[in-house]
Amino acid sequence: MIEIRNLKKVLNGKKVLDGIDLDVREGETLVIMGPSGTGKSVLIKHIVGLFDPDAGDILVDGLSVIRAGGREIGLIRSKISYVFQNSALFDSLTVAQNIRLGLDAELCDREPEECTRRVRESLTHVNLGPEVLGLLPAELSGGMQKRVAIARSIVGRRKYVLYDEPTTGLDPVNAAVVNDLIARLKEEIGLTSVVVTHDVESAFFLGDRIALLAEGKIQALGTPEDMKNSENPAVQRFLSGRSNLTMVA
Ligand SMILES: Nc1ncnc2c1ncn2[C@@H]1O[C@H](COP(=O)(O)OP(=O)(O)OP(=O)(O)O)[C@@H](O)[C@H]1O
Ligand SMILES: [Mg+2]
Repeated sequence: MIEIRNLKKVLNGKKVLDGIDLDVREGETLVIMGPSGTGKSVLIKHIVGLFDPDAGDILVDGLSVIRAGGREIGLIRSKISYVFQNSALFDSLTVAQNIRLGLDAELCDREPEECTRRVRESLTHVNLGPEVLGLLPAELSGGMQKRVAIARSIVGRRKYVLYDEPTTGLDPVNAAVVNDLIARLKEEIGLTSVVVTHDVESAFFLGDRIALLAEGKIQALGTPEDMKNSENPAVQRFLSGRSNLTMVA
Protein backbone atom coordinates (compact mmCIF):
# COMPACT_ATOMS: atom_id res chain seq x y z
CA MET A 1 0.00 0.00 0.00
CA ILE A 2 1.12 3.55 -0.73
CA GLU A 3 0.01 6.21 1.75
CA ILE A 4 0.32 9.89 0.91
CA ARG A 5 -0.09 12.07 3.98
CA ASN A 6 -0.63 15.84 4.00
CA LEU A 7 1.79 16.34 1.12
CA LYS A 8 2.70 19.95 0.34
CA LYS A 9 4.87 21.43 -2.38
CA VAL A 10 5.36 25.01 -3.56
CA LEU A 11 7.00 25.50 -6.98
CA ASN A 12 7.83 28.96 -8.33
CA GLY A 13 5.71 30.54 -5.60
CA LYS A 14 2.65 28.43 -6.49
CA LYS A 15 1.08 25.95 -4.04
CA VAL A 16 1.07 23.01 -6.44
CA LEU A 17 0.27 20.42 -3.77
CA ASP A 18 -1.58 21.89 -0.80
CA GLY A 19 -2.11 19.02 1.64
CA ILE A 20 -2.73 15.86 -0.34
CA ASP A 21 -4.01 12.75 1.46
CA LEU A 22 -4.41 9.69 -0.73
CA ASP A 23 -3.99 5.91 -0.40
CA VAL A 24 -3.23 3.44 -3.15
CA ARG A 25 -4.65 0.08 -2.07
CA GLU A 26 -3.17 -3.31 -2.87
CA GLY A 27 -4.23 -4.59 -6.28
CA GLU A 28 -6.24 -1.56 -7.32
CA THR A 29 -5.90 0.84 -10.22
CA LEU A 30 -6.15 4.34 -8.84
CA VAL A 31 -6.64 7.04 -11.45
CA ILE A 32 -5.56 10.60 -10.75
CA MET A 33 -7.25 13.01 -13.10
CA GLY A 34 -7.31 16.75 -13.30
CA PRO A 35 -6.70 19.71 -15.59
CA SER A 36 -3.35 20.27 -17.28
CA GLY A 37 -0.72 21.92 -15.08
CA THR A 38 -2.51 21.02 -11.87
CA GLY A 39 0.28 18.92 -10.33
CA LYS A 40 -0.52 15.34 -11.32
CA SER A 41 3.01 14.58 -12.53
CA VAL A 42 4.55 16.43 -9.59
CA LEU A 43 2.43 14.32 -7.21
CA ILE A 44 3.50 10.93 -8.58
CA LYS A 45 7.12 12.03 -8.93
CA HIS A 46 7.09 12.52 -5.14
CA ILE A 47 6.23 8.80 -4.75
CA VAL A 48 9.55 7.78 -6.33
CA GLY A 49 11.54 10.53 -4.61
CA LEU A 50 12.05 12.73 -7.68
CA PHE A 51 10.74 15.69 -5.66
CA ASP A 52 11.23 16.46 -1.97
CA PRO A 53 8.02 17.74 -0.38
CA ASP A 54 7.90 20.87 1.77
CA ALA A 55 5.74 18.96 4.26
CA GLY A 56 4.01 15.62 4.65
CA ASP A 57 5.07 12.05 4.07
CA ILE A 58 4.70 9.12 1.71
CA LEU A 59 4.80 5.54 2.97
CA VAL A 60 5.40 2.63 0.60
CA ASP A 61 4.55 -0.62 2.40
CA GLY A 62 5.15 1.24 5.63
CA LEU A 63 8.54 2.74 4.68
CA SER A 64 8.81 6.53 4.44
CA VAL A 65 10.11 7.71 1.06
CA ILE A 66 10.98 11.06 2.65
CA ARG A 67 12.92 9.74 5.62
CA ALA A 68 14.46 6.73 3.86
CA GLY A 69 18.23 6.29 3.92
CA GLY A 70 20.21 4.98 0.93
CA ARG A 71 19.41 1.30 1.47
CA GLU A 72 15.73 1.89 2.15
CA ILE A 73 15.29 4.15 -0.85
CA GLY A 74 16.82 1.36 -2.97
CA LEU A 75 14.29 -1.07 -1.53
CA ILE A 76 11.39 1.31 -2.16
CA ARG A 77 12.49 2.01 -5.73
CA SER A 78 12.84 -1.72 -6.41
CA LYS A 79 9.09 -2.03 -5.79
CA ILE A 80 7.98 0.76 -8.12
CA SER A 81 8.29 1.37 -11.80
CA TYR A 82 7.40 4.60 -13.52
CA VAL A 83 6.22 5.08 -17.09
CA PHE A 84 7.13 8.67 -17.96
CA GLN A 85 4.74 11.02 -19.73
CA ASN A 86 6.93 11.06 -22.87
CA SER A 87 7.86 7.32 -22.81
CA ALA A 88 11.50 8.37 -22.16
CA LEU A 89 13.17 5.63 -24.18
CA PHE A 90 16.88 6.01 -24.91
CA ASP A 91 17.19 6.99 -28.60
CA SER A 92 20.54 5.31 -29.14
CA LEU A 93 19.56 1.99 -27.53
CA THR A 94 17.57 -0.76 -29.24
CA VAL A 95 14.18 -1.92 -27.98
CA ALA A 96 15.84 -4.94 -26.32
CA GLN A 97 18.44 -2.75 -24.58
CA ASN A 98 15.78 -0.28 -23.45
CA ILE A 99 13.67 -3.05 -21.92
CA ARG A 100 16.72 -4.61 -20.25
CA LEU A 101 17.17 -1.38 -18.28
CA GLY A 102 14.12 -2.45 -16.30
CA LEU A 103 15.99 -5.51 -15.05
CA ASP A 104 18.53 -5.82 -12.30
CA ALA A 105 21.96 -5.47 -13.96
CA GLU A 106 23.46 -8.06 -11.59
CA LEU A 107 20.85 -10.61 -12.62
CA CYS A 108 21.67 -9.99 -16.30
CA ASP A 109 25.41 -10.48 -15.66
CA ARG A 110 24.74 -13.70 -13.76
CA GLU A 111 21.98 -15.14 -15.94
CA PRO A 112 21.98 -13.47 -19.36
CA GLU A 113 19.66 -16.09 -20.83
CA GLU A 114 17.07 -15.54 -18.14
CA CYS A 115 17.23 -11.80 -18.90
CA THR A 116 16.72 -12.37 -22.61
CA ARG A 117 13.77 -14.64 -21.85
CA ARG A 118 12.18 -12.01 -19.60
CA VAL A 119 12.68 -9.25 -22.18
CA ARG A 120 10.87 -11.38 -24.78
CA GLU A 121 8.13 -12.32 -22.34
CA SER A 122 7.44 -8.67 -21.44
CA LEU A 123 7.30 -7.80 -25.13
CA THR A 124 4.65 -10.49 -25.60
CA HIS A 125 2.63 -8.95 -22.75
CA VAL A 126 2.44 -5.67 -24.69
CA ASN A 127 1.51 -7.41 -27.95
CA LEU A 128 4.78 -6.81 -29.76
CA GLY A 129 6.79 -9.48 -31.57
CA PRO A 130 10.53 -10.29 -31.41
CA GLU A 131 11.06 -8.54 -34.75
CA VAL A 132 11.15 -5.17 -32.95
CA LEU A 133 13.91 -6.20 -30.49
CA GLY A 134 16.72 -4.84 -32.66
CA LEU A 135 14.97 -1.63 -33.73
CA LEU A 136 15.68 1.86 -32.42
CA PRO A 137 12.85 3.91 -30.83
CA ALA A 138 12.84 6.29 -33.83
CA GLU A 139 11.84 3.34 -36.03
CA LEU A 140 8.66 2.73 -33.98
CA SER A 141 5.30 4.51 -34.01
CA GLY A 142 4.30 6.55 -30.94
CA GLY A 143 1.95 3.79 -29.81
CA MET A 144 4.67 1.16 -30.12
CA GLN A 145 7.10 3.36 -28.16
CA LYS A 146 4.53 3.64 -25.38
CA ARG A 147 4.15 -0.14 -25.35
CA VAL A 148 7.94 -0.63 -25.19
CA ALA A 149 8.05 1.82 -22.26
CA ILE A 150 5.36 -0.25 -20.55
CA ALA A 151 7.29 -3.48 -21.32
CA ARG A 152 10.33 -1.92 -19.61
CA SER A 153 8.20 -1.04 -16.60
CA ILE A 154 6.83 -4.59 -16.15
CA VAL A 155 9.94 -6.62 -17.01
CA GLY A 156 11.37 -6.30 -13.48
CA ARG A 157 8.08 -7.57 -12.01
CA ARG A 158 7.78 -4.73 -9.60
CA LYS A 159 4.74 -4.47 -7.40
CA TYR A 160 3.61 -0.94 -8.27
CA VAL A 161 3.48 0.77 -11.65
CA LEU A 162 2.94 4.51 -11.99
CA TYR A 163 1.75 5.51 -15.47
CA ASP A 164 1.97 9.20 -16.37
CA GLU A 165 -0.49 9.99 -19.19
CA PRO A 166 -0.12 6.62 -20.91
CA THR A 167 -2.55 7.46 -23.72
CA THR A 168 -1.86 11.15 -24.30
CA GLY A 169 -0.76 11.90 -27.84
CA LEU A 170 -1.95 8.54 -29.18
CA ASP A 171 -4.63 8.11 -31.83
CA PRO A 172 -7.87 6.50 -30.54
CA VAL A 173 -6.92 3.02 -31.77
CA ASN A 174 -3.52 3.02 -30.04
CA ALA A 175 -5.04 4.67 -26.95
CA ALA A 176 -7.51 1.78 -26.73
CA VAL A 177 -4.67 -0.74 -27.16
CA VAL A 178 -2.72 0.85 -24.29
CA ASN A 179 -5.82 1.05 -22.06
CA ASP A 180 -6.63 -2.61 -22.69
CA LEU A 181 -3.03 -3.47 -21.95
CA ILE A 182 -3.02 -1.67 -18.59
CA ALA A 183 -6.29 -3.39 -17.65
CA ARG A 184 -4.96 -6.80 -18.73
CA LEU A 185 -1.68 -6.42 -16.81
CA LYS A 186 -3.68 -5.75 -13.70
CA GLU A 187 -5.66 -8.99 -14.21
CA GLU A 188 -2.74 -11.16 -15.37
CA ILE A 189 0.08 -9.98 -13.12
CA GLY A 190 -1.94 -8.48 -10.28
CA LEU A 191 -0.18 -5.12 -10.48
CA THR A 192 -1.14 -2.23 -8.28
CA SER A 193 -1.25 0.83 -10.50
CA VAL A 194 -1.58 4.58 -10.42
CA VAL A 195 -2.67 6.07 -13.73
CA VAL A 196 -2.40 9.81 -14.23
CA THR A 197 -4.57 11.12 -17.02
CA HIS A 198 -6.70 14.03 -18.10
CA ASP A 199 -8.61 11.71 -20.42
CA VAL A 200 -11.97 11.10 -18.77
CA GLU A 201 -12.82 8.06 -20.87
CA SER A 202 -9.56 6.31 -19.91
CA ALA A 203 -10.16 7.26 -16.28
CA PHE A 204 -13.60 5.65 -16.23
CA PHE A 205 -12.39 2.58 -18.13
CA LEU A 206 -9.33 1.89 -15.97
CA GLY A 207 -10.06 3.20 -12.51
CA ASP A 208 -11.24 1.12 -9.58
CA ARG A 209 -11.21 4.51 -7.91
CA ILE A 210 -10.70 7.96 -9.35
CA ALA A 211 -9.22 10.99 -7.58
CA LEU A 212 -9.77 14.47 -8.96
CA LEU A 213 -6.84 16.80 -8.31
CA ALA A 214 -7.38 20.52 -8.76
CA GLU A 215 -6.08 23.66 -7.08
CA GLY A 216 -3.60 21.70 -4.99
CA LYS A 217 -6.15 19.42 -3.38
CA ILE A 218 -7.97 16.14 -3.92
CA GLN A 219 -11.39 17.56 -4.70
CA ALA A 220 -13.16 14.20 -4.90
CA LEU A 221 -12.37 10.51 -4.62
CA GLY A 222 -14.58 7.55 -5.46
CA THR A 223 -15.52 4.79 -7.87
CA PRO A 224 -16.30 5.73 -11.48
CA GLU A 225 -19.97 5.39 -10.54
CA ASP A 226 -19.54 7.77 -7.57
CA MET A 227 -17.86 10.30 -9.83
CA LYS A 228 -20.55 10.11 -12.52
CA ASN A 229 -23.24 10.70 -9.91
CA SER A 230 -21.29 13.29 -7.94
CA GLU A 231 -22.90 16.62 -7.17
CA ASN A 232 -19.51 18.08 -6.25
CA PRO A 233 -19.14 21.22 -8.39
CA ALA A 234 -15.43 20.54 -9.06
CA VAL A 235 -16.29 17.11 -10.47
CA GLN A 236 -19.16 18.46 -12.53
CA ARG A 237 -16.96 21.24 -13.91
CA PHE A 238 -14.28 18.75 -14.93
CA LEU A 239 -16.74 16.32 -16.49
CA SER A 240 -18.68 19.03 -18.30
CA GLY A 241 -15.41 20.31 -19.78
CA ARG A 242 -15.16 16.90 -21.31
CA SER A 243 -18.64 17.02 -22.85
CA ASN A 244 -17.76 20.36 -24.51
CA LEU A 245 -14.63 18.80 -25.97
CA THR A 246 -16.65 15.84 -27.20
CA MET A 247 -19.07 18.19 -28.94
CA VAL A 248 -16.22 20.04 -30.64
CA ALA A 249 -14.67 16.73 -31.73
N1 LIG B 1 10.69 20.82 -12.06
C1 LIG B 1 9.83 21.82 -11.88
N2 LIG B 1 10.24 23.03 -11.43
C2 LIG B 1 9.37 24.04 -11.23
N3 LIG B 1 8.06 23.96 -11.46
C3 LIG B 1 7.58 22.81 -11.92
C4 LIG B 1 8.43 21.68 -12.15
N4 LIG B 1 7.66 20.65 -12.59
C5 LIG B 1 6.41 21.13 -12.64
N5 LIG B 1 6.35 22.40 -12.24
C6 LIG B 1 5.13 23.23 -12.12
O1 LIG B 1 4.21 22.53 -11.29
C7 LIG B 1 2.89 22.66 -11.79
C8 LIG B 1 2.28 21.30 -12.01
O2 LIG B 1 2.98 20.63 -13.07
P1 LIG B 1 2.66 19.14 -13.48
O3 LIG B 1 3.65 18.78 -14.51
O4 LIG B 1 2.59 18.27 -12.28
O5 LIG B 1 1.19 19.26 -14.11
P2 LIG B 1 0.27 18.10 -14.69
O6 LIG B 1 -0.99 18.09 -13.89
O7 LIG B 1 1.04 16.84 -14.76
O8 LIG B 1 -0.07 18.66 -16.16
P3 LIG B 1 -0.20 17.89 -17.58
O9 LIG B 1 -1.60 17.31 -17.56
O10 LIG B 1 -0.09 18.99 -18.57
O11 LIG B 1 0.88 16.87 -17.66
C9 LIG B 1 2.99 23.53 -13.04
O12 LIG B 1 2.68 24.85 -12.66
C10 LIG B 1 4.45 23.40 -13.45
O13 LIG B 1 4.88 24.56 -14.09
MG1 LIG C 1 1.79 15.72 -16.31
